[in-house]
Amino acid sequence: MPETKTTALVLAAGKGTRMRSPKAKVLQTLLNEPMLFYVYEALTPIVRDSILTVVGHDADTVAAAFPAMADRFVTQAEQLGTGHALQVAWEAVEESGATHCLVINGDTPLVTVEALDRLVAAQGCCDLAFMTITPRDTAAFGRVVRDAERRIRAIVEAKDYDFSLHGPVTGEVNAGIYLLKIATIRPLLEKLQNTNKSGEYYITDLVELAVDQGLSVDGVQAGNDISLMGINSPRELTVAETTLRARIVDELIDSGVIIHNPGTVIIGPRAEVEPGAEIFGHCEIYGASKVAAGARLGSYNHITDATFAPGCEVREFNHIEGAVVGEGVTVGPYSRLRPGAKLEKGARIGNFVEMKKATLGEGAKASHLTYLGDTMVGAGANIGAGTITCNYDGKNKFLTKIGAGAFIGSNTALVAPVSVGENALIGAGSTITKDVPDNQAGIARGKQVNLKRSLKKNK
Ligand code: UD1
Ligand code: CA
Repeated sequence: MPETKTTALVLAAGKGTRMRSPKAKVLQTLLNEPMLFYVYEALTPIVRDSILTVVGHDADTVAAAFPAMADRFVTQAEQLGTGHALQVAWEAVEESGATHCLVINGDTPLVTVEALDRLVAAQGCCDLAFMTITPRDTAAFGRVVRDAERRIRAIVEAKDYDFSLHGPVTGEVNAGIYLLKIATIRPLLEKLQNTNKSGEYYITDLVELAVDQGLSVDGVQAGNDISLMGINSPRELTVAETTLRARIVDELIDSGVIIHNPGTVIIGPRAEVEPGAEIFGHCEIYGASKVAAGARLGSYNHITDATFAPGCEVREFNHIEGAVVGEGVTVGPYSRLRPGAKLEKGARIGNFVEMKKATLGEGAKASHLTYLGDTMVGAGANIGAGTITCNYDGKNKFLTKIGAGAFIGSNTALVAPVSVGENALIGAGSTITKDVPDNQAGIARGKQVNLKRSLKKNK
């Protein structure tokens, strides 16, 4: 068999009018990742980085969301249809040096590598192959027309379907994923016309053109495979997100993650959860989060890009983003860990504690009502209730250092930049503006005076 090379082309220029949203459709998210992310994920094992994308509506925002892909973006300034998108990208397709082009609608985020593999397997035999499905509701799909011998004749868009011309519908429709042999398809591109109900150039018209030229055309049947559904409306987005959520949670349970109340657990596609981790619903875990075996995440946690070491316990109701939670650490309930929060082995934070760019050293504790921002807390230190690091003067942020074994009394304000030495003690209610050396006690508050109370007798 002659050598083949496949490049991919993602059609992502449309606005997605039926979404009724100002955002480009391919940037609508499922489990906190844009639709386009999933399409790229499925394509990468097949074509590696040979992926071109046609963008148009809100192209700059799409490029900003995918900087690594943006140098292979082709702009379709006016969106005149999927066939026009292909025409606009064709030069770049040919320049890729590939023999075949795998074209996919950017609004197909549930597509699997397996489905794409099946299509690519057809490249030895066909000039044009495309995936077909037979969903329950065929309403908006392009209909597949076959002849008496079941050979492909055409794809006819729902709007343009004419029973007298095309015969009774079979329920088989176009999934919007095509494999094109670049050399043979090229001459057909300029033959595309927009004489249809939408006034658009349809990629789907290539099918009939190819058949008429005597080229080999195949429809690869995927049956009622929901993973090939396109997303055009908020309802379809919800269905796809629900499907994806269940797919990920089921895979994790099967791999050995213990998930309680799994119907209420949402885990994004980039999160890694090790077998032996335990998660309670309701819970949302997004981004590049990592949950190690033996970590326990209680219910009602909202987590993004955070790491959890073995033996840590995140109790209920916490908001955690960009944090590193070490071994044996206890978090919450009701805490907020912001980016750069780091809790070392055995540390504890309790209710209404907020941390940002702050490290709590091994075994250190901040149990109640505290803000630690731009702060280093040494091992074994105790941060009393109501401690606030005043890290911001309205213009700049400053650091606070608290040494190992220090004890910060309740209701202390630490005005940064400031450091509290090892084993130092701060009297409750202090406003600390000067460094406190190791092993010393700093107290900075008005002295208490007790005065005689005059009690007037009521007449
Ligand atoms: C398309 C197919 C239909 C198929 C369905 C599968 C055509 C004409 N119809 O219909 O047969 O059953 O997908 O989901 O192709 N786009 C561009 N530039 C444009 C227009 C669209 O890049 O000028 C992109 C869109 O961003 C989208 C994709 O192409 O990602 C498909 O466009 P869409 O309008 O959703 O096509 P459908 O009506 O769903
Ligand atoms: Ca679509």
